[in-house]
Amino acid sequence: MIKLKQAIQTQGTVLSGDILKVDQFLNHGIDPELMAAIGKEFTRRFENDGITKILTIESSGIAPSVMTGLYLGCPVVFARKQKSAIHHKGLFAADVYSYTKKTTSTITVEADKISADDTVLIIDDFLANGQAALGLASIVQDAGARVAGIGIVIEKSFQPGRTLLDGAGLRVESLARIASLSDGTVRFSDEAACEVKV
Ligand code: G4P
Repeated sequence: MIKLKQAIQTQGTVLSGDILKVDQFLNHGIDPELMAAIGKEFTRRFENDGITKILTIESSGIAPSVMTGLYLGCPVVFARKQKSAIHHKGLFAADVYSYTKKTTSTITVEADKISADDTVLIIDDFLANGQAALGLASIVQDAGARVAGIGIVIEKSFQPGRTLLDGAGLRVESLARIASLSDGTVRFSDEAACEVKV
């Protein structure tokens, strides 16, 4: 996806510890036109898969998911990381360990938000270690629904997540695949090195 790669090249910053900061358009500030383009691209890739629901996780998965839901014509649900003070229904839950934050959080979705006849597209902003995506997939399975695939905005292919999800038999569609962030340089999996500011 050329627009996304250009945004990474021009606005991304490589931080120490193999972290790509994209606060200008994805993780803090949000670029609506880019989110719309991302939604259209996920729609192009999944429009023939009978998707009835999109499942994501708060907070940065929500913007690309909503745009995809708009173009695919299906509702969006986000898993919470904190318990809602007002929920009173049953919950689906999964423990997700964050290697980046070194903490485990229990993510939850109210039981009436996914049903057994749903075909679910999981969307997230980053794929690093794959724990968030696996937690979301386990919630879909607990609901008796089917995972059609996983849509990722930025995949860090040098971390274990992609291999883990492939090994679990899950279809993964990533819009930008990063082979390496070493030396402060973004190297996409399918292109020559692109310098970004450090
Ligand atoms: P995982 O999500 O694949 O399991 O990997 P990990 O545990 O390492 O990621 C934990 C959090 O760090 C996730 O966000 C993930 O999106 C984010 N993350 C991982 N690598 C990068 C990176 O290179 N750059 C940025 N900007 N984020 C990264 P989160 O805690 O759920 O945050 P948010 O969705 O509330 O923004």
